[in-house]
Amino acid sequence: MDRIIIQGGIPLNGAITVSGAKNAVLPIIVACLLSGENCRILDVPKLADVETICDVLGELGAQIRAIDAQTLDIKCSEINNYEAPYDYVSKMRASVLVMGPLLARLGKARISLPGGCAIGTRPIDLHLKGFEALGARISMEHGYVTAEASRLTGARIYLDYPSVGATENIMMAASLAEGITIIENAAEEPEIVDLANFINSMGGKIKGAGTKIIKIEGGKDLDSTVHTVIPDRIEAGSFMVAAAISGGDLVLENVIVDHLKPVMAKLIEIGAEIEETASGLRVRRRGPLRAVDVKTLPYPGFPTDMQAQFMALLSVAQGTSILTETVFENRFMHAEELKRMGADIKIEGRSAVVDGTSRLTGATVKASDLRAGAALIIAGLAAEGETDITNVFHIDRGYDNIVDKLKTVGAQIRRE
Ligand code: EPU
Repeated sequence: MDRIIIQGGIPLNGAITVSGAKNAVLPIIVACLLSGENCRILDVPKLADVETICDVLGELGAQIRAIDAQTLDIKCSEINNYEAPYDYVSKMRASVLVMGPLLARLGKARISLPGGCAIGTRPIDLHLKGFEALGARISMEHGYVTAEASRLTGARIYLDYPSVGATENIMMAASLAEGITIIENAAEEPEIVDLANFINSMGGKIKGAGTKIIKIEGGKDLDSTVHTVIPDRIEAGSFMVAAAISGGDLVLENVIVDHLKPVMAKLIEIGAEIEETASGLRVRRRGPLRAVDVKTLPYPGFPTDMQAQFMALLSVAQGTSILTETVFENRFMHAEELKRMGADIKIEGRSAVVDGTSRLTGATVKASDLRAGAALIIAGLAAEGETDITNVFHIDRGYDNIVDKLKTVGAQIRRE
């Protein structure tokens, strides 16, 4: 199995171009199921998760063609299968997003129930509640959930929690339903807006994406489109943290500054200097790192997908920081690995108390999930000596070419 090996202690210097967003491109690829015409997607990141979702669509009958390294053509003229089997859903939970479009297009969808994962239990009750409100019958047996409806009808749906996946799944299903659907307490993440823009570019009628109330006017026959995926705010944020921990000076190109506001605010509090440039953002750190408290929340709050990377950073800041995770109940697996590198972290329920130490030391550590893996790379960049990260397949799921990108800005990092 591949490993990533880092010699720490080198300030990062130079420019990195951020790739298209994983959490935007996955639902966008799925939304191609809503149209029988060709959909061209630009700025597709090279990720294991993108390959998995393309495999799922392929199983359903989609024709997928890579035009170049970052462009996909997807045509779903003949969808002949309504099932997302266990192998795919257990590999990648985002596979459940095919449920909404399949239900809307074929009148039936059968999905392996996702179950728990490394960061929490992650149920799909809100997705199902939404489909039921649109008129679907839901049944469960043999570890699979089936939704059926001869036609979907628009409805008013209140989400008990602003779930990103539920908002996306309902938005897609409602786009082919009869009449108007209103999602209340919808997720406001930029990836929701990108999905809505994609569906609207196919002829959909979605208003209010990016706010708590989304209105979808359903219709038939969505058309062909060409769409460019938004930049990955979590990849950008991860590199910003890498610049800060290494005492470096990085320019990040292809970013939407607005999407990074909560991360920027905390980085400035910690001691980074951030400047908007013509092409993106410049992040420098010259002074000491200061402890801060961070609480993860749905957007526009601080993203849970940046919590692990901040834990790595705060483990070398002066003072005591408290990181509170409110989105997922079990997203602290990286703490034990960071402790093996010398970090002083105590987990108390949903909070991590991080006492900053003056140095981390390289060790052999294991990535338990995608963002935990990113946190270990970040810690390795600052640690004395060699950090050897195993289970890097988790990192490949969501970071496009991270080893080469870090190499170009001076990191001593290699893959074996
Ligand atoms: N939840 C429910 N019921 C549901 C759906 C969600 O209780 O029906 C709970 C979850 O268990 C969790 C919380 O609501 O505690 C948030 O879940 P949400 O549905 O918002 O997350 P998701 O759609 O499963 C997406 C991202 C995650 C990101 C979260 C939160 C994708 C493919 N995944 O997951 O990304 O952490 O939103 O922002 O978009 C990552 O990239 O590393 C990652 C995990």
